[in-house]
Amino acid sequence: MNKQNTVFDCVIMELPQVHNVAGNITAIENEKNIPFSVKRIYYLYDVPGGKERGAHAHKKLQQYIVAASGSFDVTLDDGLNKKTVTLNHPNRALYLVPGIWRELSNFSSGAICLVLASNIYDQNDYIRDYKKYLNFKNI
Ligand code: TYD
Repeated sequence: MNKQNTVFDCVIMELPQVHNVAGNITAIENEKNIPFSVKRIYYLYDVPGGKERGAHAHKKLQQYIVAASGSFDVTLDDGLNKKTVTLNHPNRALYLVPGIWRELSNFSSGAICLVLASNIYDQNDYIRDYKKYLNFKNI
């Protein structure tokens, strides 16, 4: 149940890497190495130094968040527990389960935040008010 998910359900997934002296390749394939079917890919880039993104939760959306380039921090909050994860390598994904408040910060220059998502963009899936989020969590 999404309302019961905690920050401890959000784990780092090691992605496969094909090594080559000329550069590496990481491939993510539905039903093979991701726990949901990918319906949307989007990426954040050109984030000015010191700016923060996120500050919302999703009711149903599952996401893989990858630092495709550079680094940034993802602070997770389930209303009771908080944890901050630094993403800084393209072969690591943060699996973000539904119902978790998240904030993205400390973007390095040139950082690219690649997101694989389980659904298309749906404004109604967002909770953007922290008080409403706590209400959603029955806290
Ligand atoms: P939002 O998810 O609020 O970004 P963040 O939480 O990183 O600040 O999205 C910002 C805007 O971008 C919002 O007005 C809608 C638009 N948007 C899309 O049109 N499609 C998408 O897939 C996403 C993620 C955002």
